[in-house]
Amino acid sequence: MNITVEKTKPLRGIITIPSDKSISHRAAMFASLTGGRVVIRNFSNGADCHSTLNIVCLLGCEVQTPSEQVVVIDAANAYKNKNENYMLDCGNSGTTMRLFSGIIAPLEGLNATLTGDLSLSRRPMKRIILPLELMGAKIKHNAFKAPLLIKGAELFPVDYRSPVASAQVKSCVLLAGLNTVGKTTVTEEYVSRNHTERMLAYLGADIEVNGTSVSVKKSSLEPKDIDVCGDISSAAFFMAAASIVPDSDIVIKNIGLNPTRTGIIDVLTKMGADIEILEQKTVCNEEVGDIRVKYSNLKGITIEGEIIPRLIDEIPIIAVLATQADGTTTIKDAQDLRNKESDRIKCLVAELKKTGAIVEETPDGMVIEGKITPRGGCCTECYHDHRIAMSLYVLGLVSESPLTVNEFQWVDISFPEFLKLVTELTDY
Ligand code: S3P
Repeated sequence: MNITVEKTKPLRGIITIPSDKSISHRAAMFASLTGGRVVIRNFSNGADCHSTLNIVCLLGCEVQTPSEQVVVIDAANAYKNKNENYMLDCGNSGTTMRLFSGIIAPLEGLNATLTGDLSLSRRPMKRIILPLELMGAKIKHNAFKAPLLIKGAELFPVDYRSPVASAQVKSCVLLAGLNTVGKTTVTEEYVSRNHTERMLAYLGADIEVNGTSVSVKKSSLEPKDIDVCGDISSAAFFMAAASIVPDSDIVIKNIGLNPTRTGIIDVLTKMGADIEILEQKTVCNEEVGDIRVKYSNLKGITIEGEIIPRLIDEIPIIAVLATQADGTTTIKDAQDLRNKESDRIKCLVAELKKTGAIVEETPDGMVIEGKITPRGGCCTECYHDHRIAMSLYVLGLVSESPLTVNEFQWVDISFPEFLKLVTELTDY
């Protein structure tokens, strides 16, 4: 589905942002490890989390959806069928493949093959294969890429220093440690998103955080119900849109505000955005709140170092913001963006240039000069990447003439409700 976006009137109103993808994945996976019955409320509608849910089902859980976005997982019979070679399709989802690898590797007698779509089959898996092999895992792979053939085996604890600040790597090792006798520790240079640590603690695991290190001991998890908050990475597209469309004033409700995810709020604030957190509470060990964003004049900034893992998924929309900010925005230390659903540095730079943006690719990021008026009148590509699709859409909202985003259906990977929410903010 190709979509053509026109310059919009101001965005006005109140929207509720849908379920967090990272937390939904973990809720379904960890529920499958409890041996009991877990009700998950506000589970993601995105295709990625449904890949995880299908796998939880294949692995022996009984999964029911009694009402919209409520998922009930009964794990009484999970991981029991030792004779089967499970074929587990992770679709487009790196989180599904990397976290399930950690779950399956220590389960003796279990055999599984994890596959993915074209994009996932190109993504690096060495980052999880190496630490799992250090623990004694038995994994066959295609030159460190999917498909991964995992033969569950007894593992040994590891004290692992991760060369990348990646929540998927950290979570994979911690999940392997959860079923390994002894203490498994992961240390990262900068703290990546910590939903795994928080949810494992909520479910009663023996887990300890010490600065940038996390340790886990073999634990069983208690079946407890989980409420999933809204996804700040989805909200980011609306925070950005309201900041750059003149006279906008919106409230976004139910956003996850875990500090390991709020880099986008820090960046917007530093760029001079008019952004205010209205209310904050804690739900299932995660901070949640409402945010008001109004249009404002933005200025370019430098984004680098420790903040990068706290906004890694928001860099495509930050690049769009930068085209609408006065001065230079420099993004550094973000080389891992080249390993996402697409090479987000290369692809973004190419597409932004088509619209007249002044942007240069660097090995670990990009440099963007603002403020420009995107000329529109052209067709852009999203490279099968949901976040590039939505970022280009937001740019279209301030383009001189209509801007087309090809294959916009890729938005369904994380945020099928995106267009409906745009309409809610423009239909007044
Ligand atoms: C995720 C971690 C991040 C992020 C991805 C989701 C997670 O990936 O980009 O969208 O749920 O753990 P990395 O761990 O590779 O940085």
